[in-house]
Amino acid sequence: MSYSGKRVLVTGGLGFIGSNLAVRLARDGAIVTVVDSAVPGCGANEFNLAPVRSQITWINSAIGDLDRHRTAIEGTGIVFNMAGEISHINSMRDPVRDLELNTAEQLRFLLALRQICPGVRVIYASTRQVYGVPQYLPINEIHPVNPIDFNGIHKHAAASYHRLLTANGEIDATILRLTNIYGPRMALNIPEQGVLGHFFRRALLGEDMEIFGDGRQFRDPVYIDDIVEVCLIAGTRSRLPSNTMNAGGIEALSLAAMAEILANEGGSRVRYRPFPEGHKAIDIGSFSTDNSFIREQLGWQPKVSFSDGAHRTLAYFREHREHYLPRTTSR
Ligand SMILES: NC(=O)c1ccc[n+]([C@@H]2O[C@H](COP(=O)([O-])OP(=O)(O)OC[C@H]3O[C@@H](n4cnc5c(N)ncnc54)[C@H](O)[C@@H]3O)[C@@H](O)[C@H]2O)c1
Repeated sequence: MSYSGKRVLVTGGLGFIGSNLAVRLARDGAIVTVVDSAVPGCGANEFNLAPVRSQITWINSAIGDLDRHRTAIEGTGIVFNMAGEISHINSMRDPVRDLELNTAEQLRFLLALRQICPGVRVIYASTRQVYGVPQYLPINEIHPVNPIDFNGIHKHAAASYHRLLTANGEIDATILRLTNIYGPRMALNIPEQGVLGHFFRRALLGEDMEIFGDGRQFRDPVYIDDIVEVCLIAGTRSRLPSNTMNAGGIEALSLAAMAEILANEGGSRVRYRPFPEGHKAIDIGSFSTDNSFIREQLGWQPKVSFSDGAHRTLAYFREHREHYLPRTTSR
């Protein structure tokens, strides 16, 4: 799996997942272009690319604005399509903004890709949220898709565009349905980005963590290095027989257990409160991933336990705190 000398494009490369990918690709010798318009409210942070800033090209452009980055796309061999808005609660507050960012922009981008780079390999970051409330656990790829928020609906539409153009032979996409990801470079100062960011932020600030509900609902978080690894593997496999795969964590842990691990590392306490209005309606309960299919197709499985990953994440943010926690935030 060598990326040395390969021309790759990372959309959303200032954000959490995209920047970790861009840093790894640049260190592996790839010629990396990042397209990211630093959307307000998303996780864009220029410091995320600091270790490789001189080695990569960043184009400050929306992915759908081809006039701004057409020449950068020409000749690209692999696209890691990580641009998007991840906040479920924001999608309910402003569905049209979410539609524009997660769907319309993706469609413009893909229609351009099929013209400029026909057949290009694309790895798209989809989400477990497309499944909605699990009918059974762990969830495999044949579980019905039934999103319960606008973010899930719009992300599913964007994934469907990838599938359609792939079926037509115009691009060659793999869709990864990602569960909760955590690690260095996540946007800790955006409360709307979810529960793990809240836990890490409060642990670093030494403040109480809040859990909505009784904390028994579980998740299977994946450490970012494992996600970078699966994206890189997927980038080298073309024309897979089935192009939609779950990518979940090594273990399912209750929110209470994750909070306790972080609280112990950070000297915080864990408090429980009822779901605020708006959050309950989009809560999916517990989630865990069946990784059998991706293991079979790509030979990938996650390696990093939550306690190990949490420790590494806190160490990164303690070292670079001023770039991620400029001010105290509420939930
Ligand atoms: N982080 C997770 O736990 C998680 C879980 C499942 C799926 N995902 C998916 O992975 C992708 C990346 O997530 P993340 O955590 O890195 O988010 P992030 O908010 O940290 O980064 C997203 C980046 O995309 C950029 N962006 C958004 N829309 C854009 C557009 N139209 N044009 C150019 N740039 C744009 C933003 O400026 C930001 O830098 C998202 O699509 C998300 O839905 C993330």
